Amino acid sequence: MAKPTPSASPSSSSGRQQIGMVGLGVMGANFLLNFAHRGLSGVGYDVDPNRVKAFLAGPAQGQPVLGAESYQDLAAKLERPRKVIVLVPAGKPVDAVMEALAAVLEPGDVIVEGGNSFFEETERREEAMAAKGFHFTGMGISGGEEGALKGPSLMPGGPAQGYKALEPLLVKVAAQVDDGPCVAHMGPGGAGHFVKMVHNGIEYGDMQLIAEAYDLLRRAGGLDNPQLADTFDQWNQGELESFLIDITARIFRQKDTLGGGWLVDVILDKAGMKGTGTWTVREAAQLGVAAPTIAAAVEGRQLSALKDQRLAAEPRLASGAPPVKPLPPAARAAFAARVADALYCAKACSYAQGMAMLAAASRQHNWNIPLAEAARIWKGGCIIRAKFLRSIQQAFQADPDLPNLLMAPAFQEALGQRVTAWRGVVTEGMALGIPLPGFAASLAYYDAYRTGRLPVNLVQAQRDLFGAHTYQRTDREGVFHTVWE
Ligand code: 6PG
Repeated sequence: MAKPTPSASPSSSSGRQQIGMVGLGVMGANFLLNFAHRGLSGVGYDVDPNRVKAFLAGPAQGQPVLGAESYQDLAAKLERPRKVIVLVPAGKPVDAVMEALAAVLEPGDVIVEGGNSFFEETERREEAMAAKGFHFTGMGISGGEEGALKGPSLMPGGPAQGYKALEPLLVKVAAQVDDGPCVAHMGPGGAGHFVKMVHNGIEYGDMQLIAEAYDLLRRAGGLDNPQLADTFDQWNQGELESFLIDITARIFRQKDTLGGGWLVDVILDKAGMKGTGTWTVREAAQLGVAAPTIAAAVEGRQLSALKDQRLAAEPRLASGAPPVKPLPPAARAAFAARVADALYCAKACSYAQGMAMLAAASRQHNWNIPLAEAARIWKGGCIIRAKFLRSIQQAFQADPDLPNLLMAPAFQEALGQRVTAWRGVVTEGMALGIPLPGFAASLAYYDAYRTGRLPVNLVQAQRDLFGAHTYQRTDREGVFHTVWE
C-alpha cells in the first residue's frame, strides 16, 4: 500500500529556517545538506566553530542553509515549533547537547536524537525532556554517510505529536522505495532506537553469513577473487539482491594500491565493532528471545579479535578433517548455487530472530511496533536493504501476529525448497573443519523450531532432581515434583 506523503513547504513562510542540526560531523553535515537539496531550509551548529565555517564555505554554498554561532542563535533562527536534530557521538555528548538545548528552546519544540543510542538512554532522555515540555524523538538513522546525504532509512520513536511535526520533513529526506519513503513512526519511548539496534544486529548476522559463504566458496569451492566477484554479482541479480551482496562483489574487484594483488587478501582478519550488535544479543537474552545467528555473528567478531591465539592454535589443535582441497572447476557453479541456497535460509532465520525480538519488545513495552512497516522502511537507504525485505513486509501485512517469520507460507515454501542444500553445505563445511557459526546456528534454530518434542524433558527432570524445581507432564495438568530414587 502506498504511503501518503504529507506536504512540506519548500521554504519556511515565517522567514525562519525549518530544521536545525546540532553536530556538523560528516553525518550531521550530510543530513542537513540532504534537507537543503530538497528545498528545506536549515541551520547548522557545532561546538567547533571551524566546522560551521568549513560547512558554510564548502558543501553548503548556494544552499538554503545558515550557520549558528551559539545555541541561542540556533534557536533564534528556527521557525516554531522548532525542530532540532542532534547528531553527535552517543553517550555523554548527547546529554551535554540536551542540557544546552533545554536552556534555549521552548515548550512544544521537537528534539530529535539521531545517533546509535541505547533505547533505555533514549527513554530516560525523553522523560527528562517531556518534563520540560519538549517532544523528544529518538530516531535510528541507517545508511552511513552516503545515506545521510542521499536518503537514509529513518526509524523514529517517541511521542506521536513530535513525529507529526517532523513527518512532512522526514518523508522528503528519507530514501524512497516503490511504496513510499523509508520512514515510519516505530512507536513511543525508545521504540525507534530499539528498531535501529535490531537492524544492526541483523546487519551483523548478514555480514557474518556472507563472510562464511566467502570462506566456503574460496576454500572448499576454490574460487579466486574475480570468480567470487562474478558469483556475488550474479547473486545480486536474484533473490539475494541486497546492498551488502552488491558491495561484497565490489570488494573482490578492488586491487591493492600499496602492495599489488587484491586488497581483500591483505586486510587483517580482526573485526571491529562499536557495540550495537552486543546490545542486540544482550537484549534478546533479556527478552527471552533466541537469537543464535546474531549471537554467532557477534561471537565471530569476538573470536576474530584473538588473532595471536588463533595463529598459535592453528598448528597445535587438530582438525580431524581431511585437508581442504578445492573443487574441480566443473563442480564449482553447482556448489556456489547450493551455498546461495544456504545463505538464503540462514539469512531468513536471522531475520526471523530480529523480527521476534521486535515483537517481544513491542509487547513488553507496549510500543505497538508496526512490524510490516519496520520491514518496509528497511527496503531502502539502510545497510540491510534487500529485495528479501519485501517478502518479510508481505508476511507481516498478511498476519501482523505471525508467531515467527518462518511460519509465513512464503518462507515455509522457500526454506522447504532449499533446506537440503543448506544442510548439505553446513555438513560438508563442518566435515572440512571450516568454521560456519552463523550457518550452523541458523540451521540449529530452524531444526529446534520445527521439532515438536525437544529433549528438554530431560533438562526438566535434572532440574527437579537436583533442585526440586518441579516439572509439568504431557499427560495431565498440574505441577509435579518427584522424590527421585
Ligand atoms: C548503519 C550502520 C551504522 C553502524 C556501522 C558500524 O545502519 O548505518 O549500522 O549505524 O555504526 O555499521 O557498526 P559496527 O562498528 O558495530 O560494525
